[in-house]
Amino acid sequence: MKVLVVGGGAREHIMAEVAVRDGAELFIALNNKNPGLLGLSSDSLFCKDMDPTAISNWAHEKNIDLALIGPESALASGIVDNLNNLDIPAMGPTKSASRIEVDKEFMRDLSSEFSFPGQLDYKVCSTVEEARHFLESFGKDCAIKPIGLTGGKGVKVMGDQLHSIDEAVNFCEEIIDTQMSGYAKVVLEERAIGEEFTLQAFISGETVIPMPAAQDHPHALEGDIGAITGGMGSYSQADGLLPFLSQSEYDSALETIRATAAAMNSINSPYRGILYGQFILTSDGPRLVEYNARFGDPEAMNVLSVLNSNFLDVSMDIAQGNLKPVDFEPKATVCKYIVPEGYGTTPRSDCSLSVDSTLLSSSGARVYYAAVNLEENNQISTTTSRSAAVVGKGDSIESAEKVTEAGLKAVSGTGLYVRHDIATEASISKRVSHMENLRS
Ligand code: GLY
Repeated sequence: MKVLVVGGGAREHIMAEVAVRDGAELFIALNNKNPGLLGLSSDSLFCKDMDPTAISNWAHEKNIDLALIGPESALASGIVDNLNNLDIPAMGPTKSASRIEVDKEFMRDLSSEFSFPGQLDYKVCSTVEEARHFLESFGKDCAIKPIGLTGGKGVKVMGDQLHSIDEAVNFCEEIIDTQMSGYAKVVLEERAIGEEFTLQAFISGETVIPMPAAQDHPHALEGDIGAITGGMGSYSQADGLLPFLSQSEYDSALETIRATAAAMNSINSPYRGILYGQFILTSDGPRLVEYNARFGDPEAMNVLSVLNSNFLDVSMDIAQGNLKPVDFEPKATVCKYIVPEGYGTTPRSDCSLSVDSTLLSSSGARVYYAAVNLEENNQISTTTSRSAAVVGKGDSIESAEKVTEAGLKAVSGTGLYVRHDIATEASISKRVSHMENLRS
């Protein structure tokens, strides 16, 4: 089967690797020279602006049987609609259905109209006065967000980055006045207190198949401090839960996702693709923070590393509205990203990295390349974004973390940084204690 993977990061690298494992002849459309993807593919389209029409026409020319879409920007630009118009099945939501991620006002209004379990209080404001009035009368801290896509960098939280109502109002003003993410509006959401976790699901219409839960680490620096980034690493547990997340709490989050799939069907915008739910586990159960319309990055590395089912069958079943049960290997996984120093604030862009394949293979870990470029001299140069993800698998988080650390030793380079604290015993205990304290 000829399979197109759209996107050039570590998420797309693992999607491509699993697709090839399951029988794909791989084609890729990307805007960086990802050595992992280039090495797996029989043909590639280098497309600087990732134009959906150019990519779809290329897919048609290459007789692609199935397209797997990685990044939200491609979904938001309507690439699935373009592909479908050319009779190419695609695993990913249409432009209309991707509003679940792309338009936070749409998502919050849907959650309210259909009474999703775990929804948060919110208000969408078009003026600074309206925002100030809400913040003063609400009396609780809020997360303040632009409506549209900002690559995870447009959110500020009162009590975290914003220290007073005035600071919060100023940020609302900045969002409205600059039309951040394309809208002169701001979303104010009740701040949920607890541990963040990710629950992803394969969805086709009303059929929802959940994946193992994972926990990302958005802060740039060890000890969960520093700027909020795209995600510095993540882990998952062999039973699909997390050390601080019980089965009933997992099931509650899943109910929210099921309610969402049903709501999308009711409004004639059936959802077909991956739905990524970002939740905060509070002392009162999970609360829905936001949705992404695609695999998480790094969380794709956790779930796809343990996918037993044939990824191409699952993806085609989603695209054709015929999703069946999916099987995962009961193993824990740990992913740690290698990033350029300063990532999240003032990243270096002049680094290079290399991987000792013998050492990597003896470690048992896998490396997935992200925003890097294979140069003509065969060096791998980094950019200002994440460089490579190292992933270990084991019976427990502890053993998976050891495999990841052994794998990291196979990667060398200068000016690179890794959060080695991710998934260590100390870091996990801190999270478990945090939830115990909130519950007591
Ligand atoms: N883990 C954050 C994201 O995928 O957006």
